[in-house]
Amino acid sequence: MAVNENKSLLSIDGIPEILVNEAKPFMNLMMQYRCAIMEVETKLKVLDAEFSQKYNRNPFESIKTRLKKPISIYEKMKRKGYPVTVENIETHLADVAGIRVICSFPDDIYRLADMLIKQDDITLLERKDYIRNPKPNGYRSLHLILQIPIFLSDVKKYMKVEVQFRTIAMDFWASLEHKLKYKKSVEDAEKLVVHLKQCADAIEDLDYQMQKIRDEIDADKE
Ligand code: GTP
Ligand code: MG
Repeated sequence: MAVNENKSLLSIDGIPEILVNEAKPFMNLMMQYRCAIMEVETKLKVLDAEFSQKYNRNPFESIKTRLKKPISIYEKMKRKGYPVTVENIETHLADVAGIRVICSFPDDIYRLADMLIKQDDITLLERKDYIRNPKPNGYRSLHLILQIPIFLSDVKKYMKVEVQFRTIAMDFWASLEHKLKYKKSVEDAEKLVVHLKQCADAIEDLDYQMQKIRDEIDADKE
């Protein structure tokens, strides 16, 4: 009978079995990613505090953190063709925990990233330098996939965190370009892509000009 067939998929209270079996481990995993974000965020704040003491300015403007939404996790797993299980999420996704560090100047990005990577509890799994090698559309940022231990009550667990470093200008460009992706129906989208690439080039030039001005101001102070 159809009703009974359905019933076999349901556990107590009519909650689908898959949810009962997977929900708790999934929430547990999300909690662990939140902890990993906290660890990396604290490390960045420590570096910022020391840097500002040493050089009298802050290397970054802001830090944004985000935990990938369950629906985005689900969609990405489907896109990659993996069965959606807690184990597969951990193995195949590196960006469930995400941190975006917005820096004042391009050279601060490399300085901060290097200081972070050098820490002995951090392992660098992947580094994509879209600043030295921008994407064809003009996208620039430094992406790191880090592995960091979190200390739970009875176990030490290694978690992956994606850290994106950008200047304010790179972030400004990326936010606008991101919006365009969802507005594919915009008339003359191709023209916009070309225009956006020109803006990316102009922004790159500005980033380095501003850095030069900072250097001149700094040299004056000495
Ligand atoms: P996925 O992680 O599966 O998307 O592929 P990937 O690991 O090759 O991606 P990559 O490391 O190149 O980029 C991951 C993230 O960087 C994206 O989720 C965006 O946040 C950002 N990103 C990459 N390329 C672009 C781009 O062209 N425009 C904008 N606005 N953001 C980008
Ligand atoms: Mg990625």
